[in-house]
Amino acid sequence: MSRIELTDISKRYGDRDVITGLDLTIESGSFTVLVGPSGCGKSTTLRMIAGLEAQSGGSITIGGEPMADVPAGRRGVAMVFQNYALYPTMTVGENIEFGLRNIGVPKQDRRDRVAEIAETVGLTDHLRKRPSALSGGERQRVALARAMVKNPAVFLMDEPLSNLDARLRQKMRVELIELHERIGATFVYVTHDQVEAMSMGTDIVLMRDGAIMQQDAPEQLYRAPRNVFAGRFIGTPPLNVVPVSAVTGASAYAPTGAAWVGFRPERIGLLDGESSAPADAIELPASFIALENLGAEQIYRAELRDGSRVALKRFDEPVRELGSTVRVAIPIGELQWFDEREQRIAHAEVSG
Ligand SMILES: Nc1ncnc2c1ncn2[C@@H]1O[C@H](COP(=O)(O)OP(=O)(O)OP(=O)(O)O)[C@@H](O)[C@H]1O
Ligand SMILES: [Mg+2]
Repeated sequence: MSRIELTDISKRYGDRDVITGLDLTIESGSFTVLVGPSGCGKSTTLRMIAGLEAQSGGSITIGGEPMADVPAGRRGVAMVFQNYALYPTMTVGENIEFGLRNIGVPKQDRRDRVAEIAETVGLTDHLRKRPSALSGGERQRVALARAMVKNPAVFLMDEPLSNLDARLRQKMRVELIELHERIGATFVYVTHDQVEAMSMGTDIVLMRDGAIMQQDAPEQLYRAPRNVFAGRFIGTPPLNVVPVSAVTGASAYAPTGAAWVGFRPERIGLLDGESSAPADAIELPASFIALENLGAEQIYRAELRDGSRVALKRFDEPVRELGSTVRVAIPIGELQWFDEREQRIAHAEVSG
């Protein structure tokens, strides 16, 4: 199997520590996504797994084997980059075949293998073309096919879709999910885009400043962010996080030590006319200051009494006027609590 384990990994560039004490387990067969803001160490981590970059400290195993003395070419991993770097003078077929040539696979076997892979990624009709005659998405598939041809147990991908336009990116996302299902290899995928991470990953590793802020299944990351950073990273728009004092009445429900309260924009109710909030919700006045209307959904920015700004997401409702004062209802069960160090306080700790 191809479980990947990083133990106490550190990486220093010059006198700068970019990663310190990183422990990470990537399960065999998972679609693990490393996500986080620019410069947090995603690519560095991936390159250390690939063997393209040496760690300054700590150890890496793949499938239980220590990788200390194993060069990149012998790790059983294939890497797909953002700029897919195809050979322009070779046909698509030759590009895919290339990796098999230099490891001495016989000609007929190479042909069969290329045909099979081309079928898998939908390139059969393009095998005789040159890369310049392909669209961005097709080129990306050639890069994938080239990685697949050696049948690696582990695929390492660094922002492989970021050169594509939004529509194609979405299509390729679905193709990658299907591909992962079909071949059952371990995928390790780097992106700074939380939507990409959430939509593809079975396991998400959220990083900041060379450290892991949370590693979880997407639904868990969404439902129970372990800290304010994770809450504010995931979601469109992300979790609203305001001081407890900004939500009048919230302190009655706050667990000991709560400094911040969070709630999802899509879980807030809007009260009309005379209607009042249900008993299990907190009612708050707010005024709308901006609207993004996406058609099926409307995202409002609203200001609370203390000046805190929050986002609200409504689905397919008549658009409300900006500047109007509205009443919002936040279900108490939706409130998430964080201490002054911005760490989640488990609900079990609620007092009274
Ligand atoms: N070869 C290098 N020499 C010096 N510093 C480097 C080198 N490569 C990366 N760094 C630094 O290490 C940190 C992590 O870089 P890395 O490329 O891993 O970030 P990333 O999470 O992939 O970011 P992005 O989303 O922008 O690609 C950054 O601060 C970067 O400037
Ligand atoms: Mg990077």
